[in-house]
Amino acid sequence: MKNRKHVLVTGGAGYIGAHTVVELLNAGYEVTAIDTLERSEQKIIEGVKTITGKTFGFHKIDCLNKVAMNQLFSTQQFDSVIHFAAYKSVNESVEKPLMYYHNNVGSLITLLEVMKQHKVRDLIFSSSCTVYGQPDRIPVDESAPFKRAESPYGASKQLCERILEDMTTEGIRVVSLRYFNPIGAHPTGLIGELPIGVPNNLVPYVTQTAAGVRAQLTVFGSDYNTPDGSCLRDFIHVCDVASAHVNAIQFLEEQASASVFKTYNLGTGIGVSVLELVKKFIAVTGVPLNYKIGARRPGDVEKVYANPEKIVKELGWRYQYDLGQSLQHAWQWEKKVRGLA
Ligand code: UFG
Repeated sequence: MKNRKHVLVTGGAGYIGAHTVVELLNAGYEVTAIDTLERSEQKIIEGVKTITGKTFGFHKIDCLNKVAMNQLFSTQQFDSVIHFAAYKSVNESVEKPLMYYHNNVGSLITLLEVMKQHKVRDLIFSSSCTVYGQPDRIPVDESAPFKRAESPYGASKQLCERILEDMTTEGIRVVSLRYFNPIGAHPTGLIGELPIGVPNNLVPYVTQTAAGVRAQLTVFGSDYNTPDGSCLRDFIHVCDVASAHVNAIQFLEEQASASVFKTYNLGTGIGVSVLELVKKFIAVTGVPLNYKIGARRPGDVEKVYANPEKIVKELGWRYQYDLGQSLQHAWQWEKKVRGLA
């Protein structure tokens, strides 16, 4: 007897993927997750099981492997797919563009071919605010045109959205979620981000500096046209990002139309500067942070934050955690990883 909807989560051991599996299991979905574990670890899967007290299928499969994907779809009946599996480092994509196009675009194409063949039509896609580049107006809404992408990573997300839009004629129904800056970790401290090597992103760099793994944080730029001169971003708790995927799946389930392509900003709508975040981290954790002001980082957008009205109105999503909670959870996770907690 099958009454629960079955969701395939690609990249299910990744940062946002694992938090989303938690939300899906808590919402009563049957979940199968796949991941190469190339950039994550089995312990994240165990963490998800501990948090939820539920089991789910996990397979070490690469989305680019069409034979393995076909086999998976032949043995399991999925109602929908959430596609996280992709590389996400902006810097690395500049150094290795082909690897990024091959993995990010190639895995989506393979997935779509397999979905079509097995008549699975509903897909939630991990997109990014990076598709906007530096928008002319902020807060940015979904109608803003795509500017030339700053990196192959950004271009791969733009390309994937274009492919998905074109796929509506082939019966694939899509919600593309454009994430702003996901931060934090699960409040239980059992799962969180596992950056590889020196982190590029701000919050992992902050928590690693606070933990003594890095000597000093550099704030990249203090001469931007912003209130304190540092860049402005829309930081959003990873659990709030994750919960939006449940709203998106439920939205697709309710659609009668055979053709759906929807894009939504997934941010809080609050612009926070890099310096504000640093000061907030010190205030909420009470941990001193060694930081200095440095030069601008090439390729950084000066300011970008979301107008989240569309996702609030159409999907009924709302964020739950504020910046202070997000930073506390990030710190709790870092301490756990470093054996300090
Ligand atoms: N920053 C610092 N010091 C650091 C790291 C970052 O000052 O050590 C600043 C950056 O200059 C930027 C802000 O913190 O102003 C945020 O930087 P992140 O690297 O954390 O995130 P980005 O806003 O650059 O986000 C980009 C893309 C996302 C993508 C993400 C993945 O916009 O789509 O990188 O790495 F998901």
